[in-house]
Amino acid sequence: MKKNIFRKKSIPDLVAASKSGTTLNKELGTWDLTLLGIGAIIGTGIFVLTGTGALTAGPALIISFIIAGLACLFAALSYAEFASTVPVSGSVYTYTYATMGEFVAWIIGWDLILEYLLAVSAVSVGWSGYFQSLLKGMGIHIPTVLTNAPNAVPGTTTYFNLPAFLIVMLITFLLSVGVKQSKRVNNIMVVTKVIVVVLFIVVAIGYVKPANWTPFTPFGYNGVFAAAALVFFAFIGFDAIASAAEETKNPNRDLPKGIMISLFVCTFLYVIVTGIMTGVVPFAQFKGNEDHPISLVLQMAGQDWVAGIVDVGAILGMTTVMLVMLYGQTRVSYAMARDGLLPNFFKNVHEKYRTPYGATWFFGLVAGLMGALIPLNELAKLVNIGTLSAFVLVSVAVIVLRKTQPDLPRAFKCPAVPLIPILAIVFCGFLMSQLDGATWIRFIIWLLIGVVIYFGYSKRHSQLNKEKIS
Ligand code: ALA
Repeated sequence: MKKNIFRKKSIPDLVAASKSGTTLNKELGTWDLTLLGIGAIIGTGIFVLTGTGALTAGPALIISFIIAGLACLFAALSYAEFASTVPVSGSVYTYTYATMGEFVAWIIGWDLILEYLLAVSAVSVGWSGYFQSLLKGMGIHIPTVLTNAPNAVPGTTTYFNLPAFLIVMLITFLLSVGVKQSKRVNNIMVVTKVIVVVLFIVVAIGYVKPANWTPFTPFGYNGVFAAAALVFFAFIGFDAIASAAEETKNPNRDLPKGIMISLFVCTFLYVIVTGIMTGVVPFAQFKGNEDHPISLVLQMAGQDWVAGIVDVGAILGMTTVMLVMLYGQTRVSYAMARDGLLPNFFKNVHEKYRTPYGATWFFGLVAGLMGALIPLNELAKLVNIGTLSAFVLVSVAVIVLRKTQPDLPRAFKCPAVPLIPILAIVFCGFLMSQLDGATWIRFIIWLLIGVVIYFGYSKRHSQLNKEKIS
């Protein structure tokens, strides 16, 4: 029985199982997936965390973005290979189940819960900041105690971030009533968000003063690396595309395309936006304006009306991030429950809406409460460490699968294996090493809870107990 924890699912069985019985609607194509990806990627990272990033790295923030982007690019190539080989719900969790066995799959699924769930919470806090500033502009003030998590603002008594909680509830509702409606809402918001970022670029580029780029690395490379570990958050999300495999019309072709296109578009936009930000505003002036770095740039350029438009775009942009992340979360838990590792509750599909209704509300409520009660930076760092560890594991898995199942058909092959996956492991491992001790301790505690649940529940309830083990 000792071997049990390394039991694996066979890939042909996985694909067959996903095609039989009751399931989710198949209606997403490359265009939808790309929008889903961009929807998940551009958000709090670029609209909010760049302020702290600029104060940490100076104008060299652009290098931090390139480092974080490269880490994602290498990991994305591995993701794309998996996604095209194992096109079933559950993302990297399922791929790991087929390659590295049940226990590692459980751990990775547990990591993904940390990533998706807390990303929803983290982004809800960024959203709340922009929303409150918009309300202020209209003369509406929320009671201070309801504007932030406890201890989030030094010297101010706050209890609960009410706008953050309410936006997560709205998103939970949208997702619970069906992918079709939420996909449409999502697509409109993503297009608006990209237009707003392009508008920022077009308007602000004329105000760049190259003198602001010197000194380029005022805090040395330590600052650049620390900022990279933080702004890595800005790239998170492309992997959520892979979790939509079962609702994709042609996953072998559409998934790798969707992942790569969305990642390239976002990296391109980020590098330009960051260069412009630090070119228009001397980096030290972001101090005290960490919540609205993008609007600050436009205000300093005297473009107040564009700043207002960008604020609205940022609010919409962050909304789509939460939509995709919560969507990814419920699909991963759906896959884990279908395998017996989580209770049936998480895989029950609503008769009318064809969505994992109960799971959506459960995770929505948890994410909403975390966003309302925990400050942004703490949430973002935990999301980063959970995601980076998932990227490391998927890169290891690509190498393992090439060795153990070399003849498996792969619609998309990661180039230069094992070099690219090794680069992903090195880059992601390095970014993890730049995160602080408290984040590591929280992450380890989270993993330990996962181990207890696995041995206390999941191992015994696994579907593989009822099947012949290959
Ligand atoms: N990448 C997403 C964001 O920046 C999580 O908000």
